[in-house]
Amino acid sequence: MTAEQDALLNQLRTICGPAAVLTATRDVEPYAVDWKRSFVGSPLCVVRPSNTGEVAAIVAACGMHGASIVPQGGNTGLAGGATPDTSSSQVLLSLNRLSRIRSLDPVGMTVEVEAGAILQSVKEEAAKRDRMLPVSLAAEGSATIGGIVSTNAGGVNVLRYGMTRALVLGLEVVLADGTIVDGLRHLRKDNAGYDWKQLFIGAEGTLGIVTAAVLRLVPTPRHSVTAVLSVAGVETAIALYAKAQSEIGDVLSAFELISGDAIALVEKHAGLKRPIAAGEWFLLIEAGSSLTGLEAAMEALLAAAFEEELALDGVVAASHQQAQSLWALREHVTEAEAREGRSLKHDISVPLTAVPSFLADARAAVANVSGAARLNVFGHLGDGNLHYNVLLGSEDDPAAVNRAVHDAVVRHRGSISAEHGLGQYRVGEWQRTKAAAEQALAHAIKQAIDPAGLFNPGKVLAAPTKGGTA
Ligand code: FAD
Ligand code: MLT
Ligand code: ZN
Repeated sequence: MTAEQDALLNQLRTICGPAAVLTATRDVEPYAVDWKRSFVGSPLCVVRPSNTGEVAAIVAACGMHGASIVPQGGNTGLAGGATPDTSSSQVLLSLNRLSRIRSLDPVGMTVEVEAGAILQSVKEEAAKRDRMLPVSLAAEGSATIGGIVSTNAGGVNVLRYGMTRALVLGLEVVLADGTIVDGLRHLRKDNAGYDWKQLFIGAEGTLGIVTAAVLRLVPTPRHSVTAVLSVAGVETAIALYAKAQSEIGDVLSAFELISGDAIALVEKHAGLKRPIAAGEWFLLIEAGSSLTGLEAAMEALLAAAFEEELALDGVVAASHQQAQSLWALREHVTEAEAREGRSLKHDISVPLTAVPSFLADARAAVANVSGAARLNVFGHLGDGNLHYNVLLGSEDDPAAVNRAVHDAVVRHRGSISAEHGLGQYRVGEWQRTKAAAEQALAHAIKQAIDPAGLFNPGKVLAAPTKGGTA
């Protein structure tokens, strides 16, 4: 360890107390590996501040001593954005002690909350006041508010409520020089100048530290109805989606696609059973409303779907408990895939009507570069967002499979990351596939806000644009 690093550690201990600065390998290890265990880093230390003032002082100290900062929330990200490099010189800044819900206003329908608060606890607090924070993902028991803001997380309700960005009314952030910017306004309308907070949403910790947010809440739907259907093909699934939009579009909150192969993995690893006959593809559809009549509307939609031969089989949940077991099939796919073995994640989006042609194109492209790969496809069909994941054979070259899938995405004018972000996992592919003018714009933003490359170097953008830190 250099004298400079030693001095930094002492300064961090002075700022937040010695117990909040972790350096022992066993203490640091859980923070140094990502959820999928694809990336393993080695930070100089983990620092756990308890308030925004401490975050600002830490940032200023790191800037002074030339140590870069890797912010981390719940460490559930799927792109390696929160994992440090292996240089043993980066400071891992964990936000998980900043976990207070500062206020919840059920009339103005806003919540002001610190970055380290767990998404699920904020949702539970809102539910007590008959309000809902409509970000729903299988990792919500660990993911934090700072994490969902910094990744602009999606999830299963984007169809109705939008990505996290659509819910952020205000942010408090700490900039590279340690300045605290207080933009915690509870306003639906605010056109007084540039909307700077948008830059930090989805920035994956590369522009500053999000320390608190004001989020928009929605009324909790009093009634909801959940159905699982099997369909013969994705074209049929899309025809059914168009029909669902026409019949129940204003109450439709989820339209998820799960391949038969993904369901088989869930049966194998999570011990769950499919509720309907085997099919090539399954759909999980949910609608919610404060008004009654939802069940009848869903039954009518399903009856029409069978009549028009859009659906093969289906079930509508008869109770809240049954709805939860239908959702469990969807929510266990990621974990089941992880248990099955080595997998390559692709988080792609294409225009909805291009999904069938993308699937055919990508399948052929993957087969071309890999003999043994198996597909595990599922995702948020209503958003045109598929997790086109590939279970690799032992001889398969991950980089070649990655390129094959992403080239198919580019041919369909899609995105190589719909919701998980670039982190460190997709930086190379972003460089390879993104237009030069768009890359230049991204570098110009980084240069303007974090010129020394203090925040999360090597994530989103390939390297610090100037200078660089240890
Ligand atoms: P982390 O993993 O800790 O960090 C993620 C990124 O944000 C990193 O780049 C980190 O540096 C940065 N960051 C974190 N906190 C801050 C902060 N306060 N200030 C600045 N930067 C910060 N994602 C979806 O979009 N949709 C899904 O449906 C979905 N489902 C998932 C299911 C499972 C089982 C798992 C494991 C993950 C899933 N994810 C999903 C991915 C993940 O949960 C989200 O990306 C989530 O938003 C990450 O939150 P986190 O607190 O764990 O962030
Ligand atoms: C999901 O929709 O379940 C996820 O985003 C997680 C994944 O891609 O595995
Ligand atoms: Zn997803």
